[in-house]
Amino acid sequence: MITRRSLAVLAILPAACAQAQNSGATPRQTLGPFYPSDWSGDADADLVRVTGAAAQAQGQVTHLRGRLLGLDGLPLAGARIEIWQCDARGIYRHPRDREAQRDLGFQGRGRMFSGADGSFAFRTIRPTNYPGRTPHIHVLVSAPGRPELVTQLYVEGEPGNARDLLFNRLTPEAREALLLRPEPADRIETGALLAERDIIIA
Ligand SMILES: [Fe+2]
Repeated sequence: MITRRSLAVLAILPAACAQAQNSGATPRQTLGPFYPSDWSGDADADLVRVTGAAAQAQGQVTHLRGRLLGLDGLPLAGARIEIWQCDARGIYRHPRDREAQRDLGFQGRGRMFSGADGSFAFRTIRPTNYPGRTPHIHVLVSAPGRPELVTQLYVEGEPGNARDLLFNRLTPEAREALLLRPEPADRIETGALLAERDIIIA
């Protein structure tokens, strides 16, 4: 007998199945040489404003948002998500980079915990060129009971993508899983971009 409840379940099923089929685990990438060595001080999810800094970060403000999901499509709550990237001058906040010249208004790294619905949201800058690399954002996810995921996110249409060794090592499917498509997001913040990307953990 078809009840109202079973109809509701049937209505949900196709979407859930489609998501499961399309969502392999987010591909892994190397940690790189500039994993932040210092997380003290301001290291929150807003990388554009640094406590005590005179100005906000140079570069185009970009809201990086998504959900952290398991392979089953269910949200992963309470996972620690860290991102780090070079500033608008192409310098990492790291003693091995040219720290004396870095943009003091850019936090360089940020971390937060995923919400009950798996959601995460960072306010950062559109990634810029680093010598020898195409623009990218590093990501490290530590979800309870699961292996750490280390990866990098790229920007669709960047001319440097075609020459980037790490990006080109990926299969077309893996590239797609790591691509950001920033779009104007004045409704969130004037002049800012929104880049959405779900991260899927095995
Ligand atoms: Fe990097």
